[in-house]
Amino acid sequence: MTDITRDVEWARVLADLERSAAISRAVDEKVLAWLAPSAGSRVADIGCGAGGMSVLLADAVGPDGHVIAVDGESVLLNATIERARRAGLVDRVRPLEHDLSAGPPPLEGLDLVWAAHVVHHLPDQQAALNGLAAALDSTGRLALAEGGLASSCLPWDVGVGEPGLEDRLNAAVEAWFAAMRSDLPDVRRMPYGWAAAMALAGLTGVESRTFLLELSTPLDPTARAHAIQALATRVERVHNRLPPADSAAWNRMLDPDDEMAIARRDDLHVLAAHTVHVGTRV
Ligand SMILES: C[S@@+](CC[C@H](N)C(=O)[O-])C[C@H]1O[C@@H](n2cnc3c(N)ncnc32)[C@H](O)[C@@H]1O
Repeated sequence: MTDITRDVEWARVLADLERSAAISRAVDEKVLAWLAPSAGSRVADIGCGAGGMSVLLADAVGPDGHVIAVDGESVLLNATIERARRAGLVDRVRPLEHDLSAGPPPLEGLDLVWAAHVVHHLPDQQAALNGLAAALDSTGRLALAEGGLASSCLPWDVGVGEPGLEDRLNAAVEAWFAAMRSDLPDVRRMPYGWAAAMALAGLTGVESRTFLLELSTPLDPTARAHAIQALATRVERVHNRLPPADSAAWNRMLDPDDEMAIARRDDLHVLAAHTVHVGTRV
């Protein structure tokens, strides 16, 4: 891959992450209201992506608190810092580049660790949770966003291919995910749920809550772009796992010039459920 190709791909990833952050902001605010970090808290955002939550957390902890934004990708850390600068909160956000596959980040004494959709990328999820729990202060909390329900953007019958196209796409994504995990070097299975894993990491009072992201028809332009991109990303990932008739149907729906294009539909929606598990180190 050339530097230019890499730059173009990152620009696309960042644009997608920016849109996702805008779409999920209302949900993130509800999660934050539930977590309610106190003023002056020392927080880490593990696998911070483009920093949507890092900046909301930085706002919540006030001028005496701080957020350590941890990610393995320097491009995303730069985007996080830029986002914090735009919000006037850059002095509260500290970037830390760290590959979590190599072990937990070198952090301790934290009041809150927020880890959203990152632990499932790691070969030993239980070890990762143990490491994050160890970074907490004696009464600190780990908040883990993992699980929920696959998102839905289309009606059951879209008029091309057999009905149930998106359900079969989501099933193929599940199979792709299982294969991706089993191919990770030194992978370990975790044959129990996230709340049980947090208890095994020594956390007490583990509580789980699910937050609904629901954007109804008609979508505004940002939500439309998000829905179309989210479908395109899933199809790109699993194209070769789909039945040929489904693959042909998606090719038509993702071609903006086709009369059956998703981009021409006025019945797109976004429905997703994100689960957050919280436990305290005592
Ligand atoms: C699916 S994104 C989630 C981003 C954000 N937390 C959110 O919920 O929108 C996963 C993030 O974890 C980071 N990540 C994945 N594997 C990692 C690793 N081994 N070490 C450090 N960061 C990693 C990725 O760079 C990305 O920013």
